[in-house]
Amino acid sequence: MSVSALAASDAPAAAVAVRGSSVSFDKVTVAYRGAVVLKPMTLDIAAGEILALIGPSGSGKTTALRAVAGFVRPVSGRIRIGTTDVTDLPPYERGLGMVVQNYALFPHMRVEGNVAFGLHAQAAPKALVAERVADALRIVGMAPYAKRYPRELSGGQQQRVAIARALAVRPRVLLLDEPLSALDAQIRRSMVEEIARLHRDLPDLTILYVTHDQSEALTLADKIAIMKDGAISAHGATADLYRRPPNRFAAEFLGRANLLPVTVLHPGTSNGFATVRSGAVSLVAAGQDETAGTDRLLCVRPQHVTLTREDAQSNCIQGVLREVHWQGELTHLVLEIDGTPIRVVATRLPALPRPGTAIDLFFAPSDATLIVDDLNG
Ligand SMILES: Nc1ncnc2c1ncn2[C@@H]1O[C@H](COP(=O)(O)OP(=O)(O)OP(=O)(O)O)[C@@H](O)[C@H]1O
Ligand SMILES: [Mg+2]
Repeated sequence: MSVSALAASDAPAAAVAVRGSSVSFDKVTVAYRGAVVLKPMTLDIAAGEILALIGPSGSGKTTALRAVAGFVRPVSGRIRIGTTDVTDLPPYERGLGMVVQNYALFPHMRVEGNVAFGLHAQAAPKALVAERVADALRIVGMAPYAKRYPRELSGGQQQRVAIARALAVRPRVLLLDEPLSALDAQIRRSMVEEIARLHRDLPDLTILYVTHDQSEALTLADKIAIMKDGAISAHGATADLYRRPPNRFAAEFLGRANLLPVTVLHPGTSNGFATVRSGAVSLVAAGQDETAGTDRLLCVRPQHVTLTREDAQSNCIQGVLREVHWQGELTHLVLEIDGTPIRVVATRLPALPRPGTAIDLFFAPSDATLIVDDLNG
């Protein structure tokens, strides 16, 4: 796919600011040779929002992005960008910029030529091209490199040029498909910060960011949609989704989670907390609309588990410490509760007791969430 194909046909002649547009999927279904890989997907992305589309390999992230770009045609459903139904529009009329993993720059063109490519394809006037290229390179911090060839740049610098190339056409929406996955971990982290800065400079730009790296998503995104088997299994504001994942797949995809099987004793009252039972212990956790007798998982993040009671309301689990595996920032414990070994991951355990010792683990009700075990029926 070329950037020329993505160049916005209706880009304003000399606007400085990007006009972001909302993107909406309305029951969008995609099939390849009859095999459905995107189940009817409904999702709204607000103008100026960074939405991270995350999920394991093969879950349909790229397919969803390609449907927005117009490189794959849905078998049913509609896609809107702003108020325009783009489902039947060719890619170059959708006003998008796109950067994919390993986006090969044209090796025989200097950086400035690469960035100008989409504008040339639009037959933009020379002065406008010069202005837009300079703008786009400045935004990604590559202005001093305009005369270089791609082979004279690092991988991270090449990806920044690819982003500048997508921005030069002043897209309404920027589609990024694993733009950093070819880079090593350290450069990736600094590039994530640069994309965050880019969005601060262009707050109206709507960004769909595909990744399977949850830390990139947590760092960058206003909202996250988690895909699984061609469908969205969770969607919400980033911090909410991390703090109150709806199901096990989302809880485990967004970071480490302690998951304790429990049974609901008293459903959530108006305050949004339910009382549950794990063996003989009763615990309180955030939970809405629960029904007594239902099996749930109680989810607590490792940083919320402590060895000392910090609050009178704290939940307490008592057990015998059987194993301690220290892993730097994380400590894995195996706790025996009523004869059953339970694995616990924690980050805040200063003085580690010896195996064989009885210990109490504490966590606040507000740090505990009842979730659905969608991976085990
Ligand atoms: N052109 C194609 N023809 C047939 N099947 C395809 C095609 N492109 C993708 N698929 C299938 O569609 C499903 C979703 O693929 P997609 O590329 O959207 O996954 P993804 O979530 O982007 O994965 P990854 O993280 O590996 O990039 C996969 O099962 C894949 O094999
Ligand atoms: Mg993909």
